[in-house]
Amino acid sequence: MIRAATADDMPAVRKVAKRFGLLAGWSGTSDFLDAERSFGTLLFAADDAGAALGFGGTLRRGAVTHLGDLFVLPEHQSSGVGRTMLTELLSGDGPKVTFASSDPRAIALYVRHGLRPWTPLLYLTGPAAGLPTPPVRPTGADDIAALDARASGGARRATLAWYAALPGVTMHATDRDYAAARQTGHDVVIGPGGGATPQDCADAVLGALAATQARTARLAVPGTHPLVPTLLGAGWHIADMDTLMADDAGRELIRPDRYVPHPDLG
Ligand SMILES: CC(C)(COP(=O)(O)OP(=O)(O)OC[C@H]1O[C@@H](n2cnc3c(N)ncnc32)[C@H](O)[C@@H]1OP(=O)(O)O)[C@@H](O)C(=O)NCCC(=O)NCCS
Repeated sequence: MIRAATADDMPAVRKVAKRFGLLAGWSGTSDFLDAERSFGTLLFAADDAGAALGFGGTLRRGAVTHLGDLFVLPEHQSSGVGRTMLTELLSGDGPKVTFASSDPRAIALYVRHGLRPWTPLLYLTGPAAGLPTPPVRPTGADDIAALDARASGGARRATLAWYAALPGVTMHATDRDYAAARQTGHDVVIGPGGGATPQDCADAVLGALAATQARTARLAVPGTHPLVPTLLGAGWHIADMDTLMADDAGRELIRPDRYVPHPDLG
């Protein structure tokens, strides 16, 4: 049985998410699964007795569908649950993008749904200090909405307002670029961020990093982005790696050298 997740399903969805280590950094607050329920689609898969098999989720940005999650418990994998959820999640019109794990089943399923591997997405981590400090001004979600729509390929004003209201979230911008930051403890996650040019985007992210009090930072950076040599050159580490995938329409809209997505929100 696969259905839109209800409020009552959320504990079971979160239990699956925790088994895959997806909720680190989100505990105790509203999280990206709530965002998928509110601003996209969150599907819950269960067996006849109601026990969880897995879940999948999308977020919408204008016409763009960002596939954020597709997870099936190990003991139920390779029996068609993932494919059934994916077919439903990607049934709408409009451009589609995702960050695919290295699981060959994920990449194969996404290719069969019209997406293509595009560029690596590097999850980079390193010290927040010691990098160039371009100026950015603190701002609000409304102020960055238009810049974000251009960089990410679609408008998501409500999602940005929801994110901005979470504890520790700050928004930064210039007239040409923007970046969101979320500090939890000594750690900061930067994204989404974007700009009119690759350098503008890099400047916004570096400006947001310079503004944080956090010690360590995490970012999801497309392989073609100028921040990759900057950060790896400064000694940052690749903590993990996905593959940015999109269909033809998605690749028309988004420039991966001008966009630093949020790791969980796209
Ligand atoms: C990826 C995942 C969601 C897929 O769900 P699933 O229920 O196991 O997958 P399904 O049984 O529905 O489909 C698997 C598909 O992979 C194909 N496949 C399996 N191994 C493959 C390989 N080495 N190369 C190509 N295709 C392969 C199968 O043929 C099947 O495709 P088909 O249904 O079109 O024949 C699930 O395996 C999972 O949770 N993996 C771990 C978490 C993860 O990495 N999730 C992806 C996040 S982006």
